[in-house]
Amino acid sequence: MITDNEGQVLSSRHMEVHRRQPTLPPPSENQAYLGPILQLTIETTWINGKVSVIERPLTYTKRVQSTTDIAIVRATVDDVPAVLRLLDDAVKWLVSHDRTGQWGTSPFSENPKRAERLTEFATTGSGLWLAVKVADLPTVNGEAPVIIGALAVGDKMPYAPSVSEPELYVRLLVTDRRWAGNGIGTRLLEHARDLANEAGISLLRVDCYAGDDGKLIQYYESQGFGRSERLNLEGGWPCQVLAQRLDEVKGE
Ligand SMILES: CC(C)(COP(=O)(O)OP(=O)(O)OC[C@H]1O[C@@H](n2cnc3c(N)ncnc32)[C@H](O)[C@@H]1OP(=O)(O)O)[C@@H](O)C(=O)NCCC(=O)NCCS
Repeated sequence: MITDNEGQVLSSRHMEVHRRQPTLPPPSENQAYLGPILQLTIETTWINGKVSVIERPLTYTKRVQSTTDIAIVRATVDDVPAVLRLLDDAVKWLVSHDRTGQWGTSPFSENPKRAERLTEFATTGSGLWLAVKVADLPTVNGEAPVIIGALAVGDKMPYAPSVSEPELYVRLLVTDRRWAGNGIGTRLLEHARDLANEAGISLLRVDCYAGDDGKLIQYYESQGFGRSERLNLEGGWPCQVLAQRLDEVKGE
């Protein structure tokens, strides 16, 4: 059994490449130093109001996957209002930077179809996932954790061209603007790759707004995606589809 510096159990069984991990501090008596890149799956669950870390083969469904300070947890329909708030904040941020072409100027939450869509994300496909601070995870007093990012993955969007192999499609990615620069989006995309790997899927796709200076496209390129189709959606909305092969990023 291996534990991290906070005493959490890290399973070394059923290991696969999952994510880049910051270098751990030197080992103490009951810790093992695993080097700058860990290849492991960590799972935590709630037992009697406390976080318990459990060892599971990768084929098990994950409820919580945590690393040092951020956990990725599966959302339920109860989390939809909080995700809408994140999206409303993102619109405000975009507007404040004169980037109104992507999502307009009205709050996401104004349109009831958006909540329906998020509910669909939460209940179908590979689900809706949340980034939360581990420090904020519910404790015995039952406080709700603060949601600092959201990811939805599943089938491709209807307008995206079909592909001839199984794929996972990023349908939503948003992070709390107060946490910008902390790589929350990177963590959520890593989680999307994990989900694809576990399902034996080698292709991850996403699409994004392609207008203005193309900065969002550059963001996805910085995350390992490459440009594929350029589309003009309804209302002349410029859309860039991007793809990432997961069988070419082994041993990251
Ligand atoms: C895209 C996003 C999830 C990335 O989160 P992250 O990995 O934590 O990265 P950051 O928030 O630090 O953003 C990375 C860079 O992309 C830029 N960026 C993010 N969203 C952008 C957008 N919609 N349009 C243009 N630039 C954007 C940021 O300004 C930042 O640029 P900088 O490095 O020059 O400061 C997050 O920035 C976000 O929620 N953006 C608004 C919503 C959005 O556009 N989601 C994607 C829909 S396809």
